Amino acid sequence: MPYINENFIKIPAAYLFSEITRRVSQYASENPGVDIIRMGIGDVTLPLPDVCVDAMIKAADEQREVETFRGYGPEQGYDFLRKAIVENDFASLGIEPDEIFVSDGAKSDTGNIGDIFSGDNKVAITDPSYPVYVDTNAMGGRAGEFVNGCWTDLVYLTCNESSQFIPELPAEKVDIVYLCYPNNPTGTTLTKDQLAAWVNYALENRAIILFDAAYEAFITEKDVPHSIYEIAGAKEVAIEFRSYSKTAGFTGTRCGYTVVPKSVRASSENGGRVSLNKLWLRRQTTKFNGVSYVVQRAAEATYSPEGRKQVDELIRYYMENARVIREALQAIGLSVVGGVNAPYVWAKTPDGMSSWDYFDFLLKKKHIVCTPGVGFGASGEGFVRFSSFGDKDRIAEAVRRMVR
Ligand code: MLT
Repeated sequence: MPYINENFIKIPAAYLFSEITRRVSQYASENPGVDIIRMGIGDVTLPLPDVCVDAMIKAADEQREVETFRGYGPEQGYDFLRKAIVENDFASLGIEPDEIFVSDGAKSDTGNIGDIFSGDNKVAITDPSYPVYVDTNAMGGRAGEFVNGCWTDLVYLTCNESSQFIPELPAEKVDIVYLCYPNNPTGTTLTKDQLAAWVNYALENRAIILFDAAYEAFITEKDVPHSIYEIAGAKEVAIEFRSYSKTAGFTGTRCGYTVVPKSVRASSENGGRVSLNKLWLRRQTTKFNGVSYVVQRAAEATYSPEGRKQVDELIRYYMENARVIREALQAIGLSVVGGVNAPYVWAKTPDGMSSWDYFDFLLKKKHIVCTPGVGFGASGEGFVRFSSFGDKDRIAEAVRRMVR
C-alpha cells in the first residue's frame, strides 16, 4: 500500500497566492461587474521587451531547418547565456560560467535546492518571508510541526518595526539561512556591512546562505549590494538565485538562474567537504531538462544594449508605480517601508486591524487586492503588501479609491 509524504498534511492546505486567488474569484463571482484592481501577487503586466520577442521569433525560425534545429540542450543552460550572465551580471566578481545554472525561475530553484541538503539541517528563515522557503522545507521534513502559525524546528529571524525589518544573527548555530534582498515582502534592503555580517556568520559557523536576489534590478539607491558575491568570502558560503521574471517580464515565459560557486562546500557524514556545485549539477541533470532554446535566446537578448534600455524602461515604470503607492499610503496615514529599491510596498494596517481583516476591507469596500502580511509569516501579522507591477492608470485609480 503506498503511503504519502506526511509532511504535505502538516502544511496549510493552500499556497498563499492560490488562497488569495480563490478568495478573490469567489468574491468576484458573488459580485459580478465589480471592478477589482489586483495588487496582490507580483505578476507583471507590461509585455515582453521587443528585443526578447524578436530573439524568440528568430530562435523559433531556426527550428524549421535541420541545420539549426535544437533538440535537448544542456540541462544547466546554453553556453551563450551562461557567458552573457557572467559578463553582464557578475563582471569582476569572479563567477565562472560553469557556476551558473539556468532554470525556469527562482521559485523552482529556491524550492528545489533543499534536495541537496540533509533533512537534519537547522534552517533559519526571515519572518516574514517568501512562502516557498518555509513550505518547501516543511515538505522536505526540516520544519518540524506547525503549531500556532509557526514551525517548531525552523529558526525565525524576526523582521518587524522594532528591528527596522533587519534580521538579527541567530543566537543559536544554524546550518542554512535564507536571505532575500531586496526583500520580498517588505521591500527593504541590507547595506554591505549588514550583509557582510551574515557572510562572516556563515564563514564562522560553516553555514550556507541561500541568497534570493530576484529583485536586484529594482535597486535604485547607490551602495545597496546587488549580489552577495560583492561581499568578501561569500563565494565560500553562498548560493545566489536570480530571475528574469520581474526584471524583464518573464513571469509567463519562465527563465532564471542560480549561481553555485565551486568553492561552496558542505559536510558529508564521512567527514569530507563536498562541493555543492557538483551536487546541484547532479540534481539538475537528473530532474531537469533545461529551459527551451527559444526562451534562453530571449533572456540573452536582455543583455544587448537595446535590451538593457528596454528592460530599464520596464523597471522605471514599475518603480514609478511603487512611488505612487508608497506616497498614497503615507498620505492616508499608514506607516510604510519598501517601494524604493523593490517593487513591493509593505504597509502597517490601520487601527491594529489584522492582515486578513484589512485584506477583506480593501477587497470588499475598495475592490483592491493586496497580500495579507501574515501569509508571509507570523511576524507579518498587522501588515499588508502591495505589488507595483500593475498598469499605472489602474494603480492611480486604486490610489483614488484608497484616499477617498
Ligand atoms: C510574489 O508575489 O511574491 C511573487 O510574485 C510570487 C512568485 O514570484 O512566485
